[in-house]
Amino acid sequence: KRKFILDCDSGTDDAQALMMVLAQPDIELLAVMTVFGNANCDKTSRNCLRILKFKNRLDIPVYKGSDKGLIGDIPFTSNYHGYDGLGDIHIEGVDPIDIDLIQKEHAPVALVRLVNENPNQITLVATGPLTNIALALHLDPQFGTKLHDIYVMGGNTEGQGNVTPSAEFNFYTDPEAAYFVLNSIGKMINLCSMEVCERHGFSWEWYEKFTDGKTRSSCLVRDFEHSLITREKQKGIAKSYIMVWDQLTMASAIKKDLLIQSVNVYATVELHGMHTRGQLIVDWKKKQNKHQPNVRLLQQFNQAMFDSLIHMVTKD
Ligand code: BDR
Ligand code: CA
Repeated sequence: KRKFILDCDSGTDDAQALMMVLAQPDIELLAVMTVFGNANCDKTSRNCLRILKFKNRLDIPVYKGSDKGLIGDIPFTSNYHGYDGLGDIHIEGVDPIDIDLIQKEHAPVALVRLVNENPNQITLVATGPLTNIALALHLDPQFGTKLHDIYVMGGNTEGQGNVTPSAEFNFYTDPEAAYFVLNSIGKMINLCSMEVCERHGFSWEWYEKFTDGKTRSSCLVRDFEHSLITREKQKGIAKSYIMVWDQLTMASAIKKDLLIQSVNVYATVELHGMHTRGQLIVDWKKKQNKHQPNVRLLQQFNQAMFDSLIHMVTKD
């Protein structure tokens, strides 16, 4: 079996990424690491446990990680996915969750241990701020080179952000971590930018069927997405499609032949810009000749194949 670790800030889309990987018979999910982001780290840890309990998979350990960014200057968690990060719902048969189920080992420490116990075998999928990965890299500078591969959801390539005018949420929330990971991990990062995720969203008609309530998981997704979608529609800010950031990132790690087009580039993160802190900077025209490509920007996927993979989230 392939070995995966998910590092996330669950989050309704992180939760679906988790449900997707749990549905893969050929993948062993070794652990879930949690980080602040869509909510504080207590809440994101609790949300991961709730999903695992819902799926009867509490055998998978959850390690709690960082509750703030490396320099901690952004006292910021989003309420976009609800105050608890998962749509503020009660999950029958799951809640209240026992937080003593969270492992005692801190997430970056567990990451380093697991990667050293399974050298060159682990696929790491990161769908939140990169704080835990940056700390793991500080603890063990060879950490990245011992991974099989790494997939990251974060950054934006076309200048428009989704949390500030210029930056994407995961990179903005801990820019130093994103900068450090991109520049120091020593391994090509498979990056799903905000734009590529949004380009591969689905129509609202698709979403109605996806959440038609015919399975337990379909009911759960419908329930935890409900407040987010209603709010967006009420505010008139809903896009013409449903966004699938972390789901696409997980899908790209699960099924390699989903990818149709990518480009290898040198990319880094703006740390000082008055208006652009946290923005992904791509050296499209190779101006930084001293830098080798460090990022494989994933640009286009087979939508039909992604469609069948995302349906595994709600299959039972
Ligand atoms: C990212 O921000 C979070 O709200 C989502 O979970 C996703 O990882 C998209 O910018
Ligand atoms: Ca996320």
